[in-house]
Amino acid sequence: MSDVKNNNESDLRKGLEGVIAAETKIGYVNGTEGKLFYGGYEIQTLAEQSNYEEVSYLLLHGKLPDRNEYEKYCKALKEKATISKNVEKIIEEMAGKVHPMSILRTAVSYLSVEDKRESESALDAQKEMGESLIAKMPTIVAAIQRADQGKDIIKPDPDLNYATNFYHMALGKNPDPIESKIMDTALIVHADHGMNASTFSAMVTISTMADMYSAITSAISTLKGPLHGGANERALKMLQSMGSPENVEKKLSEMHENGERVMGFGHRVYKVYDPRAKILKKFAEYFGDRRKDKLFATAMKTEELMINKYGERGIFPNVDFYSGIIYDSLGFSTDLFTPIFAVARISGWVARSLEYASNNRLFRPKANYIGDRGPLKYVAIQDRE
Ligand code: CMC
Repeated sequence: MSDVKNNNESDLRKGLEGVIAAETKIGYVNGTEGKLFYGGYEIQTLAEQSNYEEVSYLLLHGKLPDRNEYEKYCKALKEKATISKNVEKIIEEMAGKVHPMSILRTAVSYLSVEDKRESESALDAQKEMGESLIAKMPTIVAAIQRADQGKDIIKPDPDLNYATNFYHMALGKNPDPIESKIMDTALIVHADHGMNASTFSAMVTISTMADMYSAITSAISTLKGPLHGGANERALKMLQSMGSPENVEKKLSEMHENGERVMGFGHRVYKVYDPRAKILKKFAEYFGDRRKDKLFATAMKTEELMINKYGERGIFPNVDFYSGIIYDSLGFSTDLFTPIFAVARISGWVARSLEYASNNRLFRPKANYIGDRGPLKYVAIQDRE
């Protein structure tokens, strides 16, 4: 009887949509009102008043740091930011051959070789690995950008903050104060977002009592896909291929006829305007005024037509629609956009993995079996039709 009940198709939630599988204090997404909170603070407030290091601490510790805690945390991140020659060699060897997300996945996986505690599942070891990964992520992604362009890898500068250091290592110059604020804000708004696919991947891996390197390697692999983190580079390419607002309508109807999804629109949780996209749109507009091309105007036209057509169905721009214009304007290569997402999301991945591991239960959902229930008669291979 219970077997029949458990296999009832009404229990089926494709993609685990709406299924509650964990409790968390880290962050909350309100999809109907378009609000996002980290530890009780609204994303808009953090974007305006905080910085990435503070937000990272908030996600990990459930509270904003006092001055002493803040300085200690920043110092620890700076001390652990350097990557070894071997990691640099791996990045240089793979550069130009595969997508930067594949290089990132491999480099992060390799980090475990250099950590004596790599196979430990004790919480203190997981925390140390997590902090080290948060510290090294910008260094690795920046090194990928440099190696992909055939340039020398730049070491972290301890005098710079997380966002500015990342920009400096990747682009070989320092941002102006506005660019620095924009980079920092882009990292803040991407830092955590409920049990999204990549975070869930990390949590599934950690729930097996595997180590943090394995969890983050899983998360990076999951973020790569176009329905998740991979949408940002595709959204920018789409806008570039449109080129100008006059071409938007034709391109969108072609995409509609071909059943193609418009990248940077729609969300599993938000059925209203994504609050992160609202924050980033202002920065995209700032760059739009300074760019020679019509990228921002093209984006505005795309947003207008998409909302007219799909708004009633709850499809609005998501965070990936405007982030690409910003990263492109700052000078990053298009294929680095998803790795930049990882530089930000590493704090959410680590925080949620640690939170789950501290009250662990192995993830193990079920599938409704819809195949033949048999028992079928086994026919030897030579006798099969
Ligand atoms: N363009 C056109 N149609 C869409 C889109 C889109 N971007 N998004 C959803 N739809 C349609 C979809 O075709 C479906 O139509 P129908 O009911 O006629 O078959 C309906 O809306 C519902 O789609 P769904 O796939 O069931 O909805 P979902 O909640 O699973 O979708 C999503 C979420 C993000 C996978 C989807 O909106 C999508 O594919 N968007 C494009 C990719 C993208 O921008 N991803 C980034 C998400 S935000 C950042 C992140 O978390 O990584």
